[in-house]
Parts: sequence; structure tokens; C-alpha cells
Amino acid sequence: MEKIKLDISRVYDFISADEINDLANETTTAQRTLYKGDGDGKDFLGWLNLPSAITDQQLAEIESAVSGLKKKTELLVVVGIGGSYLGARAVNNALTHNFAHLNKQQKAPHMLFAGHNIGEDYMHEMLELLDDYSYAIVVISKSGTTTEPAIAFRILKDHLVEKVGKEEAGERIIAVTDSSKGALRQLADKEGYRSFVIPDDVGGRFSIFTPVGLIPLAICGVDIRQLVEGAREMSKRCDPGTHFENNPAAIYAATRNALYRSGKKIEILVNYHNKLHYLSEWWKQLFGESEGKEGKGIYPASVDNSTDLHSMGQYIQEGERILFETVISVEQTDHQMTIPRDAANLDQLNYLATKNIDLVNKMAELGTILAHLDGGVPNIRISIPRLNAYYLGQLLYFFENACGISGYMLGINPFNQPGVEAYKKNMFALLEKPGFETETAQIKSRL
Ligand code: PA5
Repeated sequence: MEKIKLDISRVYDFISADEINDLANETTTAQRTLYKGDGDGKDFLGWLNLPSAITDQQLAEIESAVSGLKKKTELLVVVGIGGSYLGARAVNNALTHNFAHLNKQQKAPHMLFAGHNIGEDYMHEMLELLDDYSYAIVVISKSGTTTEPAIAFRILKDHLVEKVGKEEAGERIIAVTDSSKGALRQLADKEGYRSFVIPDDVGGRFSIFTPVGLIPLAICGVDIRQLVEGAREMSKRCDPGTHFENNPAAIYAATRNALYRSGKKIEILVNYHNKLHYLSEWWKQLFGESEGKEGKGIYPASVDNSTDLHSMGQYIQEGERILFETVISVEQTDHQMTIPRDAANLDQLNYLATKNIDLVNKMAELGTILAHLDGGVPNIRISIPRLNAYYLGQLLYFFENACGISGYMLGINPFNQPGVEAYKKNMFALLEKPGFETETAQIKSRL
């Protein structure tokens, strides 16, 4: 089986190989902290060995639990926010037909999302649509108390009950939450929903290989065994027994920290495949929420190329020189299509006739990498052989592992998110939530 490849040779105009190798000891120390489990956030390291800990029996149980829903529904609404939905969205988007919502060949339910925003129009329009389709709901919240998904679920479950009756609605709702705590756990137990547990020691953004990712993906027809198999393969490559220079997660962590220390404060994840848009969204949460603390952290940004070369390309080429790029390159497309010859050639494209569209894409990628290097933007490249569940499993685990190492190199706790509470406190105060009376008085004096 081929592997994901990491190429850091195009950072050497900016930081030397020696500067990266000088971080080998620091990287290995951070990695040791991660694997020994004696650093900050040590209670949230369950994801580290998750791929090898998941048994085939557990995967079979997930597949059999969802097989009924897979057959009888056209749509699956995944209700969740942040780490409770981005992993499923990233993988589903990468592996689903671009026009699945209109594709009559589509057999598995189409995945929709709710509870990841507070959009009144969004909910209204979703209910209009759901009136006309058979659907199921997977509601995901580790805390079981997050406002956005709680609002969406309250509305959706009422809609489903009205549409198919209480008993059938109960069959079509799956809850993924804590084993004992939180409002969603209580609700699931009271209503008798089938439920799956998010392990205590796995935080939301590291939860793709738990039921958080696996349940919705299995319903929508993704090969979750291949996804997990890819993660297992990558977890072997990232094992601390592997020497620094052969360990992709360690090299990536060291390289991005060396670039950060040289003044490159923003990392842009770049793709040349439109199906990777949500992979970038997942990656931004993973690194942003893990590293952005105590006035530190590489700011994670993303672009979808070549689309964004016509919007953000100017800034990346010539704006402030605080950027570096990590390009995800998909080596082989699933389909082949050539550019036709045209007798009149009025569009002057015959020089491309009979060439594959992807060749043009690859030359855009290579040309951009070189242009950005000339413009002062170092480049890391991650090549994946194809876009399938196996390689996505490798890629997701690679980023998780590198994020744990990189966070410890920055000297922060990569596994908490204290800053997320600030907006919630103000929102609850403004909404006059019981228990927030003092904050309500304070915040009103600032308006
Ligand atoms: O990574 C995280 O922990 C967060 O992004 C959470 O996943 C997100 O805030 C949703 O939380 P919950 O699953 O408790 O509803």
C-alpha cells in the first residue's frame, strides 16, 4: 500500500535543515510528554491509541446498528458543532459525489448539518426541505449542553415526531454523548434513543475515530473500516520508537515550529481539490483550538485552489511576509477527462487538447508553489496517493499526532479550550439565562 508523503525541502530557503534538526531533541521531548501522558491535558489523550484500540467487533457493531437507518432514510441530519461535526463533514465531503444532493444514483443517505450555527433562516429552510424527505438524526454533544446543537435538536426532534410519530422518531434518532453526564444523556435515556459514548479522555476535535465520526459516516456509506485502518497505519509511522527523521508527525511539528520562530505566524492549508474544503475546516479547528493560547500559536488559515488564487492569491504572493503554506496534493484523480480539440480554436486552447484536466491543475499547483517561494512563502507539501477513506484516515491521524507534539513544543496545553467560554458567558448574560444575573447587570452597563 502506498503512503502519504511529507516534503519539507521547500522551506530550506527560509530555515535550514540544521535549524529543523536542532529541534529534534525538543520535538522528541514533546512527543515523549505526549506518549508518557505526564503533560498538561494528560486526561485527554485517549485519541492517541484510539485507532489500534478500536476492535473490528466494535466497528461491526456500529455498522449493524446503523444498517436499518441507512436503508430507510434519504437524509441524515448531523446535529453538532466544532469537534462534534467537523470530522464527519470533512470525511463525508471528501468522499461524496460533488452533486450528491441531485444525483439519482446516490444510494446512501445524504448528510446535512444543523446546530453548527444559530441561523433562524437556516433552520426554517431545513424544515421546509425535511417535510419532503425521510430522514434520521444523529445528535452529537460531548458536554450535552452546548446551546447551538441543543436548540437545533429541540426543533428537529419535534419535527420528526410530528412527521413519523413518537415511536418511529425514537428509532430514527441516535445520540452520541457522555456516558453519564449532561442534558443530552438524560434526554437520550428518558426517550430511549439509541446512544453511543464519547470516551471521557477524548476531546471533541480529536474525536473523529470515535462514534462522533464513525456513526454518521457509517450511515452515509463511508467505509469506516478503511478509515480506521489508515489511522492505524499512520499511528505506527508516528510511534515514538520511530527515529525523528522518519516520523512524519515529528518532522511536521518541528518544521512548523521552526518557521513560527522565524516570524512565520500564519500557516495556510492549501488544497487543489474542492472536496478537501472541509478537511481544512477540521484542520483549522484542530490546530486553532489546540494551539491558540497564552498569546501564542500559529494562526491556521486555508484556501481552496485554484479558486482562491483569484481572491487570496494576491495577498499570499505579495502581502505581509508572515505566511507559510502546507499544500495537500492528491496525486491521482478518481476520473480521467481530457480537454477536447476544437477545429476553430477561437479560445486558443488547442495547446492543451487531449491533455487531462488534472495535468492543468497539477501545473497550477506546482507553478503556484514556485511563485510563492519566490514571493517569500515557504512551502510544506503533503502528498496523498488518492482521495479515499484509507488515506484520509492516515491524514487525519497524522495531523492529530502532529498537533499534540506541536502544542507541547509551544509550551501550552493542547487539549483544553478555555477561551471558548468567553463568548458563551456574555451571550448567556445578554440572554438573561438563570444563574447569570450578575453578569447580565455588568454587561448591560457596557451596552
Ligand atoms: O473540540 C472541542 O472540544 C469543541 O470544539 C467541542 O467539540 C465543541 O465545542 C462542541 O462541544 P460539545 O460536543 O460538548 O457540544
